[in-house]
Amino acid sequence: MDESIKIVEVGPRDGLQNEKHHLTVPQRMALIEDLIQAGLRHIEVGSCVSPKWVPQMANSTELFQQLPKRNDVQFSLLTPNIKGFQAAQAVNCKEVAVFTAASQSFTHKNINCTIEESLENFSELIQLAKQQHILVRGYVSCMVDCPYEGAIDPQHVVKVVKALLDMGCYEVSLGETIGTATPDRIKKVWEACLAEVPADQLAGHFHNTYGMAIANIHQSILQGIRTFDSSIAGLGGCPYAKGASGNVSTEDLFYLVSQMGFETGINLPALMQASKNISEVLHRTNQSHYANAYWQQCN
Ligand code: HMG
Ligand code: MG
Repeated sequence: MDESIKIVEVGPRDGLQNEKHHLTVPQRMALIEDLIQAGLRHIEVGSCVSPKWVPQMANSTELFQQLPKRNDVQFSLLTPNIKGFQAAQAVNCKEVAVFTAASQSFTHKNINCTIEESLENFSELIQLAKQQHILVRGYVSCMVDCPYEGAIDPQHVVKVVKALLDMGCYEVSLGETIGTATPDRIKKVWEACLAEVPADQLAGHFHNTYGMAIANIHQSILQGIRTFDSSIAGLGGCPYAKGASGNVSTEDLFYLVSQMGFETGINLPALMQASKNISEVLHRTNQSHYANAYWQQCN
């Protein structure tokens, strides 16, 4: 098979935004350098959000300015509003991500507005981005369940995904924010989306709270999705989704898709080193099954 899977590494953003241990800019840079060495070519570097809301992501623009000049790596920043977008633009960021949800309660807790208000703000942001040739990715959280409202109607998801694509997002990543979904439920959401939107404009962002992320990704691949977000060592979690654990690990995602015959561009020994390094820096048990098995076999 000569098909490839695009991996969007969200470790430096989603992975660190909920950590008790706040990393310094040099520590965050060391992680990003490790990820580049590992062959990751789409890296979400941080967030331009209020440091009062998410202190772990403070100084993301300072970090962005120090990134190595690499034309082969797409670095992005999360921007919830125009203020965040302007901060990203000021450091010459060429891709930003806007984020909302298919649940009103989650949107309110996360970005302090309604879904409709968030879309209105993004419409202006995306217009500005188009003028500057800055790419905009969209996120829709709570693709299956919301921590406050429970099950979400797939048609609500479709509505928000379409609104973001119609405004000019080049791709929308659907967030399984609290990791409760199983493949049967994921299948229904993709079926609803794929009835209206091509697969190459969609991505999956799976958290692994109940250990279902890899099964959900496998299901998504069967339905034609080829872009997935993941986080080194399975770091991650949203401060506004209590109890939700990390993202699917990049290592486990790599194992699944490479065994299925997909290209990823990953350098395995460097990926393992990146995984080991960040777990040590955070004094954290590595959440990747693959990385743990790999290091056990090496010892
Ligand atoms: P607000 O309080 O409604 O904003 O927050 P405001 O416009 O009233 O401003 C309040 C203060 O924030 C002001 O400062 C603003 O200047 C400042 P003050 O006068 O009090 O000193 N402010 C900002 N500062 C820095 N950067 C900005 C910015 N905007 C306003 N961009 C706001 C609204 C969106 C700012 C706030 O709710 C916020 O920062 N939320 C953080 C949300 C977040 O980062 N969540 C985690 C990421 S999303 C996620 O993890 C899910 C995902 O992974 C997918 C999935 O898993 O489902 C993507
Ligand atoms: Mg997330």
